[in-house]
Amino acid sequence: MNLYEAVYGRRSIRKFRMEPMSQAVLSGIFTFMEQMEPLFPGIEIKLEIVDNITKKNQMKGLFLVEAPYYLLIYSEKKEKCDLNAGFIMEQISLYLFTKGVGSCFQGFARKKTEEEEDDGMTFIIAMAFGRPKGPLLRQEYEAKRMPVDSLCMYKEKPKTWVKEILEASRLAPSSMNNQPWRFVVYENRVHVFSKKPTSKRALWNRFTEFDMGVMLANIMVAAEEIWVHLDLIRLDNITHKNLPNNQYLLSVLMKE
Ligand SMILES: Cc1cc2nc3c(=O)[nH]c(=O)nc-3n(C[C@H](O)[C@H](O)[C@H](O)COP(=O)(O)O)c2cc1C
Repeated sequence: MNLYEAVYGRRSIRKFRMEPMSQAVLSGIFTFMEQMEPLFPGIEIKLEIVDNITKKNQMKGLFLVEAPYYLLIYSEKKEKCDLNAGFIMEQISLYLFTKGVGSCFQGFARKKTEEEEDDGMTFIIAMAFGRPKGPLLRQEYEAKRMPVDSLCMYKEKPKTWVKEILEASRLAPSSMNNQPWRFVVYENRVHVFSKKPTSKRALWNRFTEFDMGVMLANIMVAAEEIWVHLDLIRLDNITHKNLPNNQYLLSVLMKE
């Protein structure tokens, strides 16, 4: 299985076998990370694996899923660091999936004993992972997601491969399954927007930027699979007028 197939089969796993995993899989996370094309090469990040088998109860937090391991990501506190972290963590989640390992983002989990942030790194999020107790795979039709046409405003008829990429983006996981992404679609380019936060649901809105990074990872994985070249750029002449109640993030320019 490759990363693209994982986009279609992945789901959050919340019940794990509490057993150790091979060192190859654990160190594979770091190797995979090193080989990843970064979204923002200027933002330094750090990964940490918390082992919940040999040393229990190191994590705490609302809705904490009991898992053999947690992967924690720390980042330099820079603009778009959540976007960058989402982009990285989704790819790791897909990578683990290809190795038969399930995962689930843990928005409110953190380490019980937080170390001093003396290296200038801030904790962003944790992800539970391990071998699943039940099935790992999900059929695509089982994924609870909005239909792609509800996420898109079509300005032109998109190329077939643009549609394929949008389909992969639709399947991205998000906090509370919020799916904050919206797209203004042209033949071979897509303007990406995120739903404007509403103060009432502020607790979840703090993950919007992270969610957008997760979705961009799916776009990138799909583009690689179907040999489409992507340019992610921020255009100055796009305004909120294109899509009311949404904020512009960036544009994806695609070339076969
Ligand atoms: C930023 C973020 C935070 C999340 N936090 C939690 C959480 O605290 N607890 C949990 O059980 N699931 C959490 N999830 C998982 C989502 O609920 C899940 O991805 C979404 O409902 C879609 O389901 P799926 O991943 O099975 O496709 C989180 C997902 C994201 C992207």
